[in-house]
Formats: sequence, C-alpha cells, structure tokens
Amino acid sequence: MATDGPTTISANCFLNNRIIAFDRVIGSHPDLTPPEANVILGDIKETIAAFDGRDIVFAHADIGTAYPEKDAKTLTWLPQSVAAALRTGGVATSGLPLDHPELEPLPLPAGADPGRTYFYRKR
Ligand SMILES: C[S@@+](CC[C@H](N)C(=O)[O-])C[C@H]1O[C@@H](n2cnc3c(N)ncnc32)[C@H](O)[C@@H]1O
Repeated sequence: MATDGPTTISANCFLNNRIIAFDRVIGSHPDLTPPEANVILGDIKETIAAFDGRDIVFAHADIGTAYPEKDAKTLTWLPQSVAAALRTGGVATSGLPLDHPELEPLPLPAGADPGRTYFYRKR
C-alpha cells in the first residue's frame, strides 16, 4: 500500500492489497465475510507470528475490551507483534496504545477520539 502523505492513507491504496482478517471465529454475515483464504482463525497472539517480517503495510487492531486486566495481557504481546509484521513506514491503528520503540505515534485524523484510537508509523 502506498501512502499519500505523512499521516493520510488513500482509500484507493487498499484496492491492490490483500486484506487479511484475524479472529477467533467467524461471526460476520456471509455477504460481509472475506474469502476463506483471507481469514485466519485462532488467537491472534499465536496466528500473527506467521506475519513477522512480512512487510505488512497497514495493520488495524481493534481488540481492546475495556477490561483493564484483559487489555493489559493483550499489551504484553500486541505492540511487538504489530511492529514485527509491519514494513518500515507501514502504518498501524489500534484501539489500544502500542508502546514500542519502533512505532512512532502519529497525529490522530480529524474526528478520532483521543485515548480510544491510536495511529503509528513503523520507524
Ligand atoms: C471489536 S471487534 C472488531 C470489530 C471490527 N473492527 C469492526 O469494525 O467490525 C473485536 C474482534 O476481535 C476478536 N479478538 C479479540 N481478541 C482476539 C484475539 N486475541 N485473537 C483473535 N481474535 C480476537 C474478537 O473475537 C472480536 O470479534
């Protein structure tokens, strides 16, 4: 995916990129479910490891729960996993803060809620 500025990503960037969805189970309507080849089922903590070094251009992690103890466990592995999967210059957005030396925080897009949405670029 190409980026068209330091903090913006063109919607067209997604057209030529494979989009892979991760979850434990499929719960979406069939019309809205990605093809089987682009769905990876299981605990992301384990399944994401296959993407280490795969130069992912964009990652969206929407797996916060609002339960502090659960989110604290997620944050023991999520920042490192995202950093390992992204290419240099790749962008991540997350509902949880991804504190990692390779992930540079980006300004939020207009309308995004501070403290609920985070954007990063891999250094
Ligand atoms: C808030 S929902 C995502 C909603 C989606 N972003 C959307 O806009 O429709 C979070 C999803 O992440 C999944 N999830 C959370 N933690 C996970 C984990 N460790 N491994 C796999 N899936 C996980 C949950 O099963 C749930 O379906």
